[in-house]
Amino acid sequence: MNTLTDTDPGAAFAAAYPQRPIPAPGNVDTSPICLTPGIEADLLPLWAAVVPETRARGNDIHLPISLAFARRLCDAYPDANRELVLVATLLHDTGWAHVDESKIISEGFRGDWRKAGIRFEHERLGCDVARRVLPSLGYEPEFIEAVCAIIDGHDTRPVAHSLEDALMRDADRLWRFDHAGIALAAGWFSQNPAVYTDRLETEIIPELITHAAVDMATTDLDRSRALLQTAVLR
Ligand SMILES: [Fe+2]
Ligand SMILES: [Fe+2]
Repeated sequence: MNTLTDTDPGAAFAAAYPQRPIPAPGNVDTSPICLTPGIEADLLPLWAAVVPETRARGNDIHLPISLAFARRLCDAYPDANRELVLVATLLHDTGWAHVDESKIISEGFRGDWRKAGIRFEHERLGCDVARRVLPSLGYEPEFIEAVCAIIDGHDTRPVAHSLEDALMRDADRLWRFDHAGIALAAGWFSQNPAVYTDRLETEIIPELITHAAVDMATTDLDRSRALLQTAVLR
């Protein structure tokens, strides 16, 4: 007889990792992210293939910093498929380069932005980018579909379906806690750094799935608030 966890990957993942945030079996590095940029030679051809996609919506800042956090999360959760997490993180927002750019801010970052049509569109178009660039770089069809399963729904699906999905989602949030992420993302929401960092604490930290990400986020938030003098500049 089928159970809910057989047919619902979100329920299966929740059952496999009942303790939240998920404790980290590996090392958790909370030092400033710029200390471990980690350039993997095997990812350089993939970066080169998506240079045009990095020009949209601050992806040339967002994607490398998120990837650096994804590496640290993989160190903290060594059971995860590292290559899958890194490739999915590198590609997850490339779809923004293929949507109507004039709607990115007006629809993607205003009102009920998590449910905006353009959010679904950037996920679907990101999968198109993955299916276009990955085959010629030697990635297997099964791996490519696993990447797309993570990209599709990374913003709009409320729950993660796997550990790799969860690590990509946390990496996608962690970059915002670094001062570079605050500088960029606060502007998207037309908020000053003090208001934006308050939001990171009350809205984004509770969304983090892994304990390693919570540790990294809280440490980075303290550092960024001190650096940007948000106690005074508000
Ligand atoms: Fe996204
Ligand atoms: Fe993102």
